[in-house]
Amino acid sequence: MTFPGTRTRTILHESDQYYATTTMDSRILAASGDNAIITDPDGNTFIDLHCGAGVNNLGMNNPHIIAAIQAQLQTGIIHAEHHNAPNPLAIELSLMLAATCPVRKPSKVFLSNSGAEANEAARKLCEAYRYHAGEKHVRSRAIYFENGFAGRTHGVLAATTSNPSVQRDPYWNHYDQENSIYLPYPTKANANLLRKKLSDLDLSAVDRLLIELPCQGEAGIIPADEETLEYLYGVTRSAGILWIVDSIQCGIGRVGTIFGCDLYPWLEPDILTLAKALGGGLPIGATIFRADLDWKKGEHSNTFGGNPVSSRVALTVLACVQELIASGAIKRIEQAMQKRLYLLRDHPMVQDMRGIGAMWAVELPDTRLRDRLIDIGEEMGQTETYGLKLLGAGRKSIRLMPPLTISPKDLTIALDLFLAALNTLRDENENDSLSS
Ligand SMILES: Cc1ncc(COP(=O)(O)O)c(C=O)c1O
Repeated sequence: MTFPGTRTRTILHESDQYYATTTMDSRILAASGDNAIITDPDGNTFIDLHCGAGVNNLGMNNPHIIAAIQAQLQTGIIHAEHHNAPNPLAIELSLMLAATCPVRKPSKVFLSNSGAEANEAARKLCEAYRYHAGEKHVRSRAIYFENGFAGRTHGVLAATTSNPSVQRDPYWNHYDQENSIYLPYPTKANANLLRKKLSDLDLSAVDRLLIELPCQGEAGIIPADEETLEYLYGVTRSAGILWIVDSIQCGIGRVGTIFGCDLYPWLEPDILTLAKALGGGLPIGATIFRADLDWKKGEHSNTFGGNPVSSRVALTVLACVQELIASGAIKRIEQAMQKRLYLLRDHPMVQDMRGIGAMWAVELPDTRLRDRLIDIGEEMGQTETYGLKLLGAGRKSIRLMPPLTISPKDLTIALDLFLAALNTLRDENENDSLSS
């Protein structure tokens, strides 16, 4: 089949004309989906190997999610005025999150519509807390991490340091410029540098720290080193710094646990943010926080946060993911990926590979080759049964994040196709070097 087909090309053309310029650059448009398989408007089929960067963890057209949406539609209540009166489903979801999360108890929850909004709320909680404690001007600084990603709204842009010249610099304000401290992410390789930088800082001026755990997603799936992380935790906690942990991309089963950061039994964030897969494809963000950090009435709110449809779906997602974890499904994906990726260790197009659970990255020699691999994956459907839906991460890595519900057969097919795509890239590259 031709790719992109006629219908796809028309939509891409109209998108160029009528839709804002954002980050969109894939030619795979989804017309329908079934678990790990996406069908485009022309009937081409693809295996989804990134799930919208960790949104469709339960695959497409998941019957439990569809049933939850339908059941809520039957009630006739789609929007409840959660800024005006509590709605029972949002409260049930909050209770569930607050009771099971690793945040220090008692904890509370604020529901919103995206990851950025969840992180904005986390920042506002810290700022309001310092304000009421009379510390706002003493503790005005925040610690963020190099190559981090926290969202694109103004209040969280300071923490979004991946590709800063594009994503942050046009909006960079003086306040955040002066008050943001950037540290290397706590990997083994960065351990000494991080210790040195920490020892040079006046930590008494720092309000909060925001960190993606257990790995940085957009940076290229960079797992934290537990020992280095524990050191950072010890030093900053004893200096009274509030910990905001962002498990937006790594949470909801992706690394084999519900909350992502609960991989570390000793870690007790002051605030934890979730979004993406929690909504099973519908918009949701959750900011789970120590109850004593709570706002005073009117300091924060929103219109659609905790809407009944998203809340009901989120409750279903949590139950399904719990079951997947208990059944060993995520462990099996991890083992299959580890085994297959290990065989790629000497492939000339592979520089590195790393990951946890069902969240992996393969690093290529440079950005051009990485981007070409994505194109090859997309175009494979012309000669194979499926093309591959791939997404870059960092400067030169490819994310491998299949749905947690992918069948062993589809995972094997996907990884075979990925190897075939790498081989095509290698052959093209060898031919290029011969002809130049
Ligand atoms: C770690 C992390 N934090 C925050 C966000 C922002 O989420 P959203 O795009 O829903 O605003 C993302 C999105 O990719 C993310 O990966």
